[in-house]
Amino acid sequence: MSELEVTEEQRRYNEIAIKYAAKIHGARSALKASAQPVVDELFPSFNRTGLGVYREYERMGNRPVTEGLQVQADLQGVVFEHLGLTIGTVLHDIDLKQTLSSATIKLIRKTLLERKVVFFRDQHLTEDEQVSFGRRFGELDAFPFGKPGDNPYILEINHDEQRPGTENNWHTDVTWMKKPSLGSIAQCVVVPPIGGSTLFADSYAAYLGLPPEMQARLQHISGINDYRFFLMGGGGGALPEDLATEIKKEIAFGVSHPMLRTHPETGRTALYFNGGFLRHESLYDNRTGEALGVEKAKELVSFLQQQHGRPEYVCEFKWQPGSIAFWDNRAAQHYAASDYYPHKRVLRRVTVSGDRPYYNPAKK
Ligand SMILES: [Fe+2]
Repeated sequence: MSELEVTEEQRRYNEIAIKYAAKIHGARSALKASAQPVVDELFPSFNRTGLGVYREYERMGNRPVTEGLQVQADLQGVVFEHLGLTIGTVLHDIDLKQTLSSATIKLIRKTLLERKVVFFRDQHLTEDEQVSFGRRFGELDAFPFGKPGDNPYILEINHDEQRPGTENNWHTDVTWMKKPSLGSIAQCVVVPPIGGSTLFADSYAAYLGLPPEMQARLQHISGINDYRFFLMGGGGGALPEDLATEIKKEIAFGVSHPMLRTHPETGRTALYFNGGFLRHESLYDNRTGEALGVEKAKELVSFLQQQHGRPEYVCEFKWQPGSIAFWDNRAAQHYAASDYYPHKRVLRRVTVSGDRPYYNPAKK
């Protein structure tokens, strides 16, 4: 028998397959024609990722930015390049070295609120210029556990042959703080020849894509966060015990945050936690103070840690020297791919002060 010859068995199978394809399609078409589709039912109940993205997009008015924001951008000559359906926008034709008008700052802030992370290309700001830019959005938080730049509000994030990238986990920044920073503004100084992207995930869509029973369950759960990671040597060597004790006296060690966070400006609900700073076993019901128990708590955190990483929630930003990313820690998580060792990658970051996280969906 030649390679291309069809066997009787194959011919018979295809006849049957073609017959049923027509029958099944006909039956489904009749169903569709007779009923208005219920969007929730179109997505499989065991995988609501696509639905999470759609629900967020729907709340955005089925467009990447509101009409009012688009009008403002057009008026100011700013061109939007959207990276994901619901998250991530590059703002072209803005020069951050210039003294920006309050209208431009308003435009950037509004875009950040709608798109969760905004990007700029070819800015090459000095440290002082980056700090001044950050200050246009609020007070800044200095960072005690990393290498400062010449300006003390700058954190240098350096990786090379001696120090591989370690920010490759999904997280929102500095949840060990009572009032975690509202947002972070990072500029790329050195980019590896290939790789080194940062991925950003939509925390509203990640929440909306959870099963309804999980959404309900998380409403009253909080956990304790601390900076033990840095004391034990994360980001450098382990700290001497007396220094660690001294720091703990001055900077609160162990703060409670809810797992769902109401965004104080948009009123939307975000899935909110940092798996590195959260004490996984510490989850408790914040109405009664009752602990979930170690097993249940760990199981829940391990389930939730998978959530942001689903590609549908994610946009990827490829750095170039002079690129800037400004992300909203209240609405997004991020993940710095550690895929460029032994090459060098250097970012500089400033963080804008935030407020105490809370969950109150009734508050708009
Ligand atoms: Fe981070």
